[in-house]
Amino acid sequence: MTFSPRVFSGIQPSGDLHLGNYLGAIRRFVPLQETHATIYCVVDMHAITVWQEPDALRRATREVAAAFIAAGVDPKRSIVFNQSQVVQHAELAWVFNCIARMGWMARMTQFKDKAGKNSENVSLGLFAYPSLMAADILLYKATHVPVGDDQKQHLELARDIAAKFNNDYAASIAERDLGIDGQFFPITEPLIAGPATRIMSLRDGTKKMSKSDPSDQSRISLLDDADAIAKKIKKATTDPAELPLELEGLKDRPEADNLVGIYAALSDRTKAEVLAEFGGQGWGKFKPALAELAVAVLSPMGTEMRRLLEDPQTIDAVLRDGAERASAIAEQTMTQVRDIIGFIR
Ligand code: TRP
Repeated sequence: MTFSPRVFSGIQPSGDLHLGNYLGAIRRFVPLQETHATIYCVVDMHAITVWQEPDALRRATREVAAAFIAAGVDPKRSIVFNQSQVVQHAELAWVFNCIARMGWMARMTQFKDKAGKNSENVSLGLFAYPSLMAADILLYKATHVPVGDDQKQHLELARDIAAKFNNDYAASIAERDLGIDGQFFPITEPLIAGPATRIMSLRDGTKKMSKSDPSDQSRISLLDDADAIAKKIKKATTDPAELPLELEGLKDRPEADNLVGIYAALSDRTKAEVLAEFGGQGWGKFKPALAELAVAVLSPMGTEMRRLLEDPQTIDAVLRDGAERASAIAEQTMTQVRDIIGFIR
């Protein structure tokens, strides 16, 4: 027996979804619906590890749900919901807080980066963040998690937590016959996006495209209209040289590399294929072609997102339906976990 293939992934509703979120995560959720049971979650409990205005949090939660649907996630085939509606996430996260070691958590580079010199004054939740993420995944015994490169370490932590739980409670798991080859939780595999899906700022090819960049010109928002998308691409920072004929020529040219990468991702081609077409040409040729492609792919999605967001009640109903289906699985797992641990119910 093996764990049945199940995918879980989460996106934080912290405002302003952009091209990087789409190419690095959301777009990859769609084809997995063909091969796996898929669960896609708007992780609102993760979002409040840093301050969120309540109205902005509601808006951003609906925006992520709308982006999932507009991108092609079918809420009938997949389970689409927001984390806080399924209380078992918090419950399992507490158990995992008691499994994970301080030393494991203290090694998390994302925490160290986010806390910086301010580590005495960030929330305890920010420190415990990866433990909640492990709970998200393992509550559904997910076997695969599509995530960006930056989440690799968090996923390794989830695997360590699963292994330690399986090991610490091995006798109890065996006694109740709740394991598959002795394992209660699967050791989840990451599905890491290739480097081609690491989308950089349009102003600076060495920085990741980010919602926290003060310049709106640095990113393409999924809610930008066709005009805004085209303008931002035409104004993107570049070097003066023409496009190289081969991949090698993109080395040390971060802006050129990024724009070629975006073209490749949006057209489902490799960078080498893009260079085979555009190598030797100048930006005056390439940028309009990229703008046209980006508008063709992104603007129908933005239009659909805006249409969905005009009717928040329908989005909320989708999230509620997803939460009910997620809860059914989550409660099954938690019933077993409580029993394994020795909690009386
Ligand atoms: N930490 C992830 C991010 O910021 C979001 C996330 C939360 C997640 N829980 C998850 C991703 C579970 C994958 C699986 O990108």
